[in-house]
Amino acid sequence: MGEGIDEKRINFLPAEKINLEKFDCRGRILDIGGGGEGIIARRFGERVIAIDLSREELEEVPVNNSLRIEMDARDLKFLDEEFLTVTSFFSFMYMTPDDQNKVIQEIFRVMKADGEFYLWDIEIKPHDGREKDVIALDLGVTMDGEEIKTGYGVYWPGKEQSPESIVKMGKKAGFRIVEVAEKANSFFVKMKK
Ligand SMILES: C[S@@+](CC[C@H](N)C(=O)[O-])C[C@H]1O[C@@H](n2cnc3c(N)ncnc32)[C@H](O)[C@@H]1O
Repeated sequence: MGEGIDEKRINFLPAEKINLEKFDCRGRILDIGGGGEGIIARRFGERVIAIDLSREELEEVPVNNSLRIEMDARDLKFLDEEFLTVTSFFSFMYMTPDDQNKVIQEIFRVMKADGEFYLWDIEIKPHDGREKDVIALDLGVTMDGEEIKTGYGVYWPGKEQSPESIVKMGKKAGFRIVEVAEKANSFFVKMKK
């Protein structure tokens, strides 16, 4: 993240680990904000349609059989009920709460009845008004027998989110909440249509 950002501006949260070794899901996978490291595309290859606002981020994904499409998750170009699985791996942190609401409603629309939405993200407390205005988390992601070192950081003010805020939006969109798991500064939510 943020090459060129003055480190004095960054509030580094303590590094965390996520193990995707046993993570499994059904059918075709729509990965929201799937550029950058493209973790979901690297794990599931040709089953994945990775969409991202940024062509550059999609181009960064190590080449594999996933399908990469430049698209805004607030206005998905898919018909209704096309996917059994939708994922978002540290992408909601880059959206405002208003945009998250739109995106969750779009995810619900394109998901088949019985489909599942899996989200991993950072818990972001309200900005404390001090000098550090970027919040970042280093991650070690284990899958296929290796650990991928990555990290995600974002401009902090206006970006607060928590498992509770995501669950609330999910329920409003029509989802049933299946699982919420929290680590020190990150969380996982599984919801079902
Ligand atoms: C840093 S990436 C997340 C990490 C990525 N999933 C991975 O596996 O490394 C977050 C992405 O969300 C994208 N994004 C933010 N808002 C979006 C939107 N409304 N629609 C689609 N992508 C969006 C950003 O362009 C950014 O590339």
